[in-house]
Amino acid sequence: PIVVKASQIVSDVQPTMWGVFFEDINLGADGGLYAELVKNRSFEFSRPLMGWKAEQDFFDESALQVLNRLEQNTANPRYLRVTKNSNDTHLSVTNEGFRGMGIKKNLRYDFSVLYRKPAAGISITLELLNTTGKVIGTAVVPVDVAGNNWQKAAVSFTATDSASKGSLRVAFKGNGSIDIDMVSLFPSDTWKGRPGGLRADMVQKLADMKPGFIRFPGGCIVEGFDLSQRYQWKKTIGPVEERQLIINRWNFEFPHRAAPDYFQSFGVGFFEYFQLADDIGASPLPILNCGMACQFNSAELVPMDQLDPYIQDALDLIEFANGDVNSTWGKKRAEMGHPAPFHLKMMGVGNENWGPQYLERLALFTKAIKAKYPDFIIVNSSGTDPDGQRFDYLNTNLRAANADVIDEHYYRSPSWFLSNAGRYDNYPRKGTKIFGGEYAGHSDRVVDGKRQNNWQAALAEAAFMTGLERNAAVVHMASYAPLFAHSEGWQWTPDLIWVNNLQSYGTPSYYVQQLYSLNKGTSVVPALVNGEALKGQDSLYASAVVDKNTKEIILKIVNASATPQTKDIVVEGAAGLSKNAVLTVLGSQDLYTINSFDNPAAVSPVTSQVTLSGKNKLHYTAAPYTFSVIKLSMG
Ligand code: AHR
Repeated sequence: PIVVKASQIVSDVQPTMWGVFFEDINLGADGGLYAELVKNRSFEFSRPLMGWKAEQDFFDESALQVLNRLEQNTANPRYLRVTKNSNDTHLSVTNEGFRGMGIKKNLRYDFSVLYRKPAAGISITLELLNTTGKVIGTAVVPVDVAGNNWQKAAVSFTATDSASKGSLRVAFKGNGSIDIDMVSLFPSDTWKGRPGGLRADMVQKLADMKPGFIRFPGGCIVEGFDLSQRYQWKKTIGPVEERQLIINRWNFEFPHRAAPDYFQSFGVGFFEYFQLADDIGASPLPILNCGMACQFNSAELVPMDQLDPYIQDALDLIEFANGDVNSTWGKKRAEMGHPAPFHLKMMGVGNENWGPQYLERLALFTKAIKAKYPDFIIVNSSGTDPDGQRFDYLNTNLRAANADVIDEHYYRSPSWFLSNAGRYDNYPRKGTKIFGGEYAGHSDRVVDGKRQNNWQAALAEAAFMTGLERNAAVVHMASYAPLFAHSEGWQWTPDLIWVNNLQSYGTPSYYVQQLYSLNKGTSVVPALVNGEALKGQDSLYASAVVDKNTKEIILKIVNASATPQTKDIVVEGAAGLSKNAVLTVLGSQDLYTINSFDNPAAVSPVTSQVTLSGKNKLHYTAAPYTFSVIKLSMG
């Protein structure tokens, strides 16, 4: 039998145990979570009219000019000057969106633009187009104020039809000249209906996981290809037109992958990340640059005697999140609409950085942060090499320095995950804790250039996660990575959630993550066969928790073999078990099964009731290739 010792508490399960890792990779933010439909709205991409198509039926090479006022506005220097000398000509610019614009019939769309026109005479009309060029929404933009100052004009209209790849034509009527900037179109059905907000279906997928934390903004974009492209949180807050766009670290062209039009508008910036965490009940976990660019790329370093601004960014971030509304940075948070603190308790310093150069920089950050905030938790990075010397070197040194938490990353084969379910069994119980900050099973099945998010990978992750759960005394946090991918703009596979312009679906790995998170319990208890934890014997894996609040015992069993496995489950130390238990099974007999837009639930949880055969015994057959969650009620 599998014996669950319900009264023998091994350790707590941290509320943060299962979380999510967000990075703007695979069009995760711009073109994804950020619901803005206009690409290159402020003409700041490296080619200023990237994403825009100009149409004019007259000859005038000065009709469209991109002007740069860098001296006056370093964050958003460019704008478009439009000049038209006749009422009878056609002049327009059409925005293609991010792989098109997803448009929903009968939904309200909110357009806005910054404009400046010296004199009356020129006006702006909008046409929302579907793929065939049919007009499915129109509006006249009230650009009514003439003068030398920038104005904001806004108009809303309803789409008369749906389109998966719409576009927006901005047409200029009459004659005269007008400057435009921050040309923006949002659907009105954003998350919580917030103007300029997030895509609701994508946020809902996260909310449905009830993640314990959200890690942001990455990932490699924290580091940048070089330091000029590193993520600087202070440039991502405040009015969107003042957030300085930069190229995305993931802007490169691979066969089948995203084209080089990938920039960070920071429409989703640090305020929005904190707000998102707040909305979905997750603890925020920002990761900051430690004074090093990505070591896989430029490996550029900030000299040790010039680290102060980087360290100050970390201190100021804590004030931005938690500070009183009268503090410098707390005030900025309040001005953005959140006077209450965001309760930031932890922060990562560095992502996948290594070597003595990382250790010496980290030490300065740690000293400064702990001096001001002694209880603040600092997550240290251990790189991508869990079996190698680089990892050993860091691990030894970070532990010697009494690191709060070490962030381990592993993108490995399913067989690695299966054979590493005992990875943390011998980690010291005291001292440094572990954050499995990025992991994913990488199946060898690649179709159309995409490494598949199949059941083979998800099942192996589920097996591995029994080991994380069993070792919750040591593992305080874990998150799959990457989180989102756009089906027509991705750099990295596999990913947890796939989206196109209108739809999103969870992969089999998504449901594994969700089942762990929704069934995390409050305390680990032993689940043993012949006195030993199940970590691969006969291809079976198991872990158990109790939930003190709901008075439930939750057993997770993975059968990674092709044959059914029958066991008696015997619960010891729990009086008054209910006769009925709730069983949730995730599985497929074909390890290569994937979910898709057409079949999003091919691998998805199926819940039923099972009946105990005795006072404390359940006879259970785990079907081949399944992950089972059995919830017993202590009455
Ligand atoms: O998750 C994708 C990338 O993998 C992250 O940006 C980086 O931290 C890791 O190498």
